[in-house]
Amino acid sequence: MSNASRIYLSPPWSGVAERAAVRRAFDSGYIAPCGPMVDAFDRRLGELSGQHAAAVASGTAALDLLMEELGVGPGDRVISSSLTFVATIGPAFHRGAEPVFVDSDPSTGLVSVPLLREALCASRRVKCVIAADLYGQCCDYDAIEALCAECGVPLVVDAAESVGATYKGRPAGSAGVAAVYSFNGNKIITTSGGGAVLSRDPGIVERARWRAQQSREPVAWYEHREVGFNYRMSNLLGALGCAQLDRLPAILERKKRVFRFYEKAFAARPELDAVPFPCAAPEESSHWLSVFVFASPSVRDAVAARLAAANIETRPVWKPLHLQPVFAKCRAYGGAVAEHLFNCGLCLPSGAGLSKKDLERIEASL
Ligand SMILES: Cc1ncc(COP(=O)(O)O)c(C=O)c1O
Repeated sequence: MSNASRIYLSPPWSGVAERAAVRRAFDSGYIAPCGPMVDAFDRRLGELSGQHAAAVASGTAALDLLMEELGVGPGDRVISSSLTFVATIGPAFHRGAEPVFVDSDPSTGLVSVPLLREALCASRRVKCVIAADLYGQCCDYDAIEALCAECGVPLVVDAAESVGATYKGRPAGSAGVAAVYSFNGNKIITTSGGGAVLSRDPGIVERARWRAQQSREPVAWYEHREVGFNYRMSNLLGALGCAQLDRLPAILERKKRVFRFYEKAFAARPELDAVPFPCAAPEESSHWLSVFVFASPSVRDAVAARLAAANIETRPVWKPLHLQPVFAKCRAYGGAVAEHLFNCGLCLPSGAGLSKKDLERIEASL
């Protein structure tokens, strides 16, 4: 293993402005959940997404609040993309719903619309569809939205990985009844941990905010018509989120540059036969992670091993949910496309803070 400092997959990119923002919030004495900086972050997220927004403790918490809103429970089926992180389906699973997984479209790696139609037509017990955006690329919102409307099933967009991206000019997460963002430490902007509920419907966002605060009634004493959750975001992290949003245009620019760097680097190494993760509109992706797909698992593993020897972190593409032991008994529609992307795909260091020297080191190690 090289002695050189480790190059991570997707570290946060933050600095003086973020530190000053957190410090100002700290010095204000508002060191508590919610507060003025969370309100400001909500407003800024609303501007970014063109919807109403409520910042909460994590993307997973945001999904849980939406499963509560939709009344997901035992006996329901919830359809999700197979190629995604487990958190996409986790909250529905915990509520006793039966997950149903749908394979990826080979031209995008995102949920296949024909297979989604098959899954929707096969059961009347589908409570909702959760379509996950991947690695900075938005799903085919128009087609999925139209299909879900035709079937009368609500659509939730898991836009945890696509903050800052667009779909035909619309902001990521602006489809379906509601969407979520994640601000986990490895995401495109971070609040160290955090997420948001987004919707065109102000009622959905208002109820999510209320449930995230223990569903407390607005009276002086603690009054409850419903039992809620403590999914609040801290005021300090709201300040961090606002400062990260100021930096978002620069992050997007740098992520794009990192992606182009890999395109060029792999074009110069035809023996690796590496192609970018399928994407319908690369110019609209936020390029959260630069992902390349190799000719075979052994070539992918060899590249990963060479980078690991140089102390450079990489990671295989998400293991499809239909292959996860915990979901072994769940229904799946297709699966071969997601399996191929998992077997041959590699996520490469994609931090917005990667220096020229870092990129040279990566290139030399390829
Ligand atoms: C697709 C997807 N959904 C949901 C989540 C969960 O977000 P969080 O980590 O903020 O709970 C993540 C990432 O962590 C994700 O990549």
